[in-house]
Amino acid sequence: MLADFEQIDFDVSKIESWPYVKALKLGNLDLSKINLIAENTKHLETELVKFVSSQKVSENLLKRRNGITKHLTKVLTNKFRGSKVSTFGSFQSGLNLTNGDIDLCLQFNGEKPKKVLKKIARMLNEDGMDNVKLITTAKVPIVKFIDSQSKIPVDISINNSLAVHNTELLRRYSSIDSRVKPFIISIKYWARNRGISDASMGTFSSYAWTLIAINYLQSLENKVLPNVLKKDGSQTVEIDGIKYDIGMYSNNELDFVTQNHSTTGELVSGFFESLAKDWPWNNGVISVGSGKILTRKEKNWVANKPYISDAIQDSQIKRLGKFSLPVEDPFDNKHDLSRVLDVEGIFEIRDEVLRAYQLISENTDWDTITEIKYPEITPNEPKLDLFEDLRNQEDDKTRQDLKILYEQLKVIENSVSLRESERSDAIKMSKALRRNAELAKEQSGLSSELRPRRTKIDELQSKRDSSNNHYIPVHFIEEELSRVYSILTTEATNRVELSLEKEKQLFSWFFELQSMYEHSKMTRKYHREFVKLLEQQQHSIEHIKDIRQEMIEIQSFGKFTDFDDLAMKLLKELNPLKRERRNLRREIGRLEAWLRKQTHFNNNNHSKHKGSRKKFVNNRKVDDVKSKVVSGDSFSLQDLEVLLKNGGLSSVNQSKTKTRKGKNKHKKNNYSVTPQRGKRGKSSKNQ
Ligand code: UTP
Ligand code: MG
Repeated sequence: MLADFEQIDFDVSKIESWPYVKALKLGNLDLSKINLIAENTKHLETELVKFVSSQKVSENLLKRRNGITKHLTKVLTNKFRGSKVSTFGSFQSGLNLTNGDIDLCLQFNGEKPKKVLKKIARMLNEDGMDNVKLITTAKVPIVKFIDSQSKIPVDISINNSLAVHNTELLRRYSSIDSRVKPFIISIKYWARNRGISDASMGTFSSYAWTLIAINYLQSLENKVLPNVLKKDGSQTVEIDGIKYDIGMYSNNELDFVTQNHSTTGELVSGFFESLAKDWPWNNGVISVGSGKILTRKEKNWVANKPYISDAIQDSQIKRLGKFSLPVEDPFDNKHDLSRVLDVEGIFEIRDEVLRAYQLISENTDWDTITEIKYPEITPNEPKLDLFEDLRNQEDDKTRQDLKILYEQLKVIENSVSLRESERSDAIKMSKALRRNAELAKEQSGLSSELRPRRTKIDELQSKRDSSNNHYIPVHFIEEELSRVYSILTTEATNRVELSLEKEKQLFSWFFELQSMYEHSKMTRKYHREFVKLLEQQQHSIEHIKDIRQEMIEIQSFGKFTDFDDLAMKLLKELNPLKRERRNLRREIGRLEAWLRKQTHFNNNNHSKHKGSRKKFVNNRKVDDVKSKVVSGDSFSLQDLEVLLKNGGLSSVNQSKTKTRKGKNKHKKNNYSVTPQRGKRGKSSKNQ
């Protein structure tokens, strides 16, 4: 059955970019007339055997990947204290291609994941990694980048624990039948090379294709794979407050024996045939968790508007409604992996399925079927030989290149240091101007206080010095008051009797003193306030003087914001320069390492020759010693050592028989070789 969206009438000019879908619509491609025959599947099988062996992971690749993982783990756990890094994805599940990425998960709860990823992205950029991209809009935000040396792509996500579990699920499936891995990697390779395996580009993720492939093997009449999920709640994990049932049967518990004996070639061609002729999404949902294709109704995942058919008619529609080509995430079964698809992505997928099917039916080579469609988005094969380009180049040329690189580095280093010092000057200027601005503000604040305070001072002064007050100190009035009071209140027996007139005078003086006392107290208060304000005024004036002294005469240079902008501009210029400097240094390091290696190699070769020379000298020496033995000449301890290291006396015997036939008269001497022999001739004693 055609895909549902192909069954409606629409203007074919709208699908020019998808020639196979167009041919199908125009009747130029008749699927009912294409039937795979044994020759096709056999041909494909032969091709796939070659392909699968090409995807074997070499020691070297493994070493490189482990090196990168180890380095990143160290850097990340150092930066985020208390964090842990785990690996997941296809290299863990065993369903990897040689150019697969490294999937890392950082377990860290110290900060918000997006903030952590931002920091990681900055760090990677500074480290000179290629294509660092922060993807925060995805369900699981990640940082993507390419290791600058090996060109291996890396994804880092935060607290992505569920992925660690679903990786284990894929690993379980791949362990059930030996055809699963070659089958899945063939589908993944095809999807990747044909540009339909990138969720960020509106097509299925590699993970989604893996599930689609597994579900195909589960839904065959003769199943190749069973359902391994227990779904009995016996093993659950809680992530972000949600419980997931991750229980899986072991192979023993499953006791599954397949009756399907198809070759991988047959399975792969069957996969394309089923997608081409029996588009599963017309009414189905890919559900590895159920071990079969569920109906949309069963899953309750009926397509939402706008449908694909609407989008064909209306080019304005770019995003589709939910459940366009539903693929259930096995553990997170509310998650539909087709949520990322866009209209073009779906047409690309359909077109590629039709193309692959037709090409298989024409016995086309696997290389052509999986020919890279969009080189710019297809990951390169890892670069494992760091010196590949240098191997076929004369070392003199490499030395020359190195010299040029050093010259370039010098230029860049000059530009960097020039900009750095300019930037530091700009920052200093900005700080100085900023301080000036602060001081000016303070000064104007102080100045604005002076005038009202002066008015207040004047007011207080005039109150204090007001008309009838000739300021008499309070203590004087207090003393006088006390004196008069005492005269007036002391009993007459103790003092001279006062005349009435005198007493009256004293009373009136006493009242006057009292009123003066009140007045004087007020005056004292005004006076004190006056003095206080005067002090404040004095202090402000002095402070203003200080400020004026501190302010630098740089107003004419402009505003501090101008210098902030300049510092920012210089920083922007510095970043690419620093990257270039880093790359140059790295390249210099590489060339130097190569030349060092070459020198070492040459020396070794040299010493190898030396070794052979030594061997030659040694051989000559052995021969000399042997002839000494044979001839009965005296010889030293060293000669004895040489002889023992080279076959001992028996060898002398052999060489003697070979070379000195008939000269048996020295035989006895040959056997009496001792340290004491020789000039002293004590042979017989030491035998
Ligand atoms: P990848 O897309 O890198 O897939 O996702 P992969 O299986 O490693 O395949 P290649 O070889 O790199 O192309 C890595 C892992 O992330 C989880 C899966 O566990 C997958 O194995 N993942 C990915 C999800 O859980 N959900 C997704 O939507 C995508
Ligand atoms: Mg991966």
